[in-house]
Amino acid sequence: MKKLHIPYFMMFCLFLLVQACGPKTDDPEAHRPQFHFTPPSKWMNNPNGMVFHKGVYHLFYQHYPDSTVWGPMHWGHAVSKDMIRWEHKPIALFPDSLGYIFSGSVVVDVNNTSGFGKNGQVPLVAIFTHHDPKGEKAKKLDYQVQSLAYSLDDGETWTKYPGNPVLKNPGIIDFRDPKVMWFEKGKKWVMALAVKDRITFYSSPDLKTWKKESEFGEKLGAHDGVWECPDLFPLEFEGKTHWVLLVSINPGGPNGGSATQYFVGDFDGSTFTPNSIDTKWVDWGPDNYAGVTWSNTGKRKIFLGWMSNWQYANLVPTINWRSAMTVPRELSLAHTEGAYYLRSQPIEELNSIVSDPRESPELKIAGDMDLSENVKDLGGKYVLTLSSKEIQDFAIVLSNDLGEELLVGYDKEANVYFIDRTRAGKKDFKKGFAKRLTSPRVSTDLPVDLTLVVDVASVELFADKGLSLMTGIFFPNETMENLGIRSPGINIDMVTYSKVAGIWPKRED
Ligand code: FRU
Repeated sequence: MKKLHIPYFMMFCLFLLVQACGPKTDDPEAHRPQFHFTPPSKWMNNPNGMVFHKGVYHLFYQHYPDSTVWGPMHWGHAVSKDMIRWEHKPIALFPDSLGYIFSGSVVVDVNNTSGFGKNGQVPLVAIFTHHDPKGEKAKKLDYQVQSLAYSLDDGETWTKYPGNPVLKNPGIIDFRDPKVMWFEKGKKWVMALAVKDRITFYSSPDLKTWKKESEFGEKLGAHDGVWECPDLFPLEFEGKTHWVLLVSINPGGPNGGSATQYFVGDFDGSTFTPNSIDTKWVDWGPDNYAGVTWSNTGKRKIFLGWMSNWQYANLVPTINWRSAMTVPRELSLAHTEGAYYLRSQPIEELNSIVSDPRESPELKIAGDMDLSENVKDLGGKYVLTLSSKEIQDFAIVLSNDLGEELLVGYDKEANVYFIDRTRAGKKDFKKGFAKRLTSPRVSTDLPVDLTLVVDVASVELFADKGLSLMTGIFFPNETMENLGIRSPGINIDMVTYSKVAGIWPKRED
């Protein structure tokens, strides 16, 4: 037998050592965000049935508990007292003879209009789409219908209504995602339903019988994909009530694939009338889809989106689970540059897990400035804020020792914010994933202010007090523990970095 050559043998041992100690890309929990909602395991998409009831925020979600790819949809369930720290609950709704459980909403039926309430117990009522896969396979048109389930124990357990479906399909392939609200002026329930390329409004006295009121949007807004997951709600601005209609669209988003557009206008209980026909986006980033707001939160409107994109949601390189939600965001209206815009800011409850702020005042940047010492010990999760009286080209650079980098910045010539994930880690799972994504700067105000919410594998940019938004996910081969700012020349007044605690008891810092 040939004697093993020692240098080769040593190289082989070194190789084994590197394999053992190198980045753990096969860690089944690699890339799991630590303060964003993720399912305990397997597949998750849209948030559903978000409702506040008796001091508890409920979150249901599109879930397939048997696989990390999309399949027969269930409603997963979790509860929280602050929308930040979550407790997983058993699955709330399982597929049945009418089909999979697609998206929908939950309302608190205080007046027991549905009659589901017994012995004074207020019913929670879920209104959701039943999607019949057999009908779809048989190339029928009417395989999506709207159905009800109710809970008489504050959301713990759910009973499907024997009279389902409550809204039959008139022969339209895309007929789904009911979002229901109580319209106090007309003392009736109003449902916004995504119907192919428009939103159809229905009304009901009891959640069981529905009357068509009107259609909206056939020729308005973005139409390069199917309309999905609407939400209609009032927001006050300077003493006047305005109505906001969210409409998700896939594909056709401003950076490709899925995204959510919105309209601001009036709603009279029957018809929605927009006050502008410009297409506006809740978030220009590629990874905020199917977001809607919690019901029963009074004047406060809190939004949560699914932090992925149908272009690659089934392919992203996570192992135990797929997908996370955005941080919950408080919505308000702004009037700027002659138009109404939606503002989104992380909810103030997020501050309860944010601590230990560090500051870098008065930075004069010309080239690359290394600021890593401020975030080195934070495990790739932190909140960064930046304010500057001037706005020039610059990029905040998140990086690791493998040379992977994610850039978030501003391009003065194009007047756009950007997230550049061209070299931010794994990208081969989907052609076109690794690219530079942009969002126009809506505001012209100075100073400019940015908040970056960074959580291991996601970044959420809130610029100009929440007027320009971008959310993007990325998959570095090692935690991005380095940080810098790159610019040909800019004076920045202040950068702060704060630690964020993990939200899951077993993963607490
Ligand atoms: C949007 C969507 C919805 C549907 C669900 C199915 O992401 O396609 O229209 O209810 O996902 O999981």
